[in-house]
Amino acid sequence: MAASQSNKQTRVVAFVFATLLVALLVYLYAKLFGQQMGGGELAKFAKIPFVALWALLAYLGIRFLNAAIFDFAFRLRRGYEAPTLVRNIFTLIAFTALFVVIFKIQYPEVNLGALFTTSAIFGVIIGLALQDTLGNFFAGISLHADRPFQVGDVIVVGQQKYTGVVESISWRAIKIRTFQNHIVLVSNSLAAREAIEVAPRDNLNARLVFFSTIYTDSPAKTIHVVREAVRDADNVSDKITPIVRIRGLGDSSTDWEIKYWLDDYAKYNDTDALVRQRVWYALRRNGLTFAFPTRTVYLERNIPVRPVTAEDQIADRLSAVDIFSPLSPDELRQLAKATAGHVFAPGETLIRAGEEGSSMFVVHSGRVAVQVADRAGPRTVAVLSEGNFFGEMALFTGEPRTANVVAMEETEVLEIGHQAMKHIFDTNPSLAEAISWTIAERQADLAKGSAESPQTSLHETAGLLASIKRFFGLH
Ligand code: CMP
Repeated sequence: MAASQSNKQTRVVAFVFATLLVALLVYLYAKLFGQQMGGGELAKFAKIPFVALWALLAYLGIRFLNAAIFDFAFRLRRGYEAPTLVRNIFTLIAFTALFVVIFKIQYPEVNLGALFTTSAIFGVIIGLALQDTLGNFFAGISLHADRPFQVGDVIVVGQQKYTGVVESISWRAIKIRTFQNHIVLVSNSLAAREAIEVAPRDNLNARLVFFSTIYTDSPAKTIHVVREAVRDADNVSDKITPIVRIRGLGDSSTDWEIKYWLDDYAKYNDTDALVRQRVWYALRRNGLTFAFPTRTVYLERNIPVRPVTAEDQIADRLSAVDIFSPLSPDELRQLAKATAGHVFAPGETLIRAGEEGSSMFVVHSGRVAVQVADRAGPRTVAVLSEGNFFGEMALFTGEPRTANVVAMEETEVLEIGHQAMKHIFDTNPSLAEAISWTIAERQADLAKGSAESPQTSLHETAGLLASIKRFFGLH
């Protein structure tokens, strides 16, 4: 800061000094050669350095005026710096006008207008020489008028995909600082012809980062784990929560994309890298796996095999279900064998009210909501979690399903069919009674919402028990 201040002072002193020097030279020249310049052939040539000195003085004067108008007055009134292009146009026009005036005073006999209009050669030369320059110049004017981007924005220009932060826009080119800290000058005419992608500095710009997981990894878990890992990374905006979604199902992997928004878009390379790093650690911590090319080989054997551990786990889960507590370990294992596991995504419907149903379910992991349709929309009557069961009403009474059951998160359920239950009832007749109590209670709960009586009476339970026994052919 201090260095730039002293630099500025040196430049001002040099400027004043140069101006004074040139003014002195003009004065001395006029004094010394004033006589010769009065007339005759010689005078025409003697005037050339004089005109040059005047032109130099005029140029310095315009520089001073330029600084006074744009550095001082413009900034004071508008509050921001004037565009370089506007300053350059001002300098060019003012200097041309002053030069014409100086020239006219020194060479009154020369008709400048005629010189410009009649000289076809001059026109052709100027036209050819300035073709590109004029193209850039006018493209620059339209860029300034349009203001499609500003200094500090990140842009990507044209097919070459020049990418970087805009440093300046002059009458000739746009100066971009690339992410390798190189400077690229894109001529205005090229920029006017090509498509430009702009990420404005004052905009919430997003990025996409990709990764893949193996097919056995749970989508709901992956979404949760990755989103939480990414959202608090440096430079990831907290204004919008990152989105994690499946981009496609590849040959060997579930392919994912993370969409996140940045506070400072110019740092997207670093932030992309940080996001990938976060994903790596998060997957590792949560037992999720990055995918690599794999083949699944299915081996068929004559004896159906089921991993022992899985069966034991299921038997464990069933033993925690209150209605199955009277069952012996052996009976539990038998029942576990007869179950089928199903996984549901958050929001998926497991059971629809009114449908036929011939099985019940135990929640192995996750949570489900039991919902009934109301005038105001779906009403949740109960939330069931690990170890709870549902679907028993239709199974034991033969009536249609009484409610919708919807997964609230990723949920695994164990399905138990009619046949397996009948087998258990045969050896444990007390089970039917326990279940009939639960059913009666739930029926009462459902009735609470409607106009029917909310009481669970012994009489009703007895009726239920009888109908269960009848349904399963028990005595
Ligand atoms: P079913 O009628 O077969 O299908 C919907 C299931 O929702 C039902 O069996 C019960 O298992 C369950 N259900 C209905 N009402 C309730 C309630 N009040 N509390 C818990 N579960 C219920």
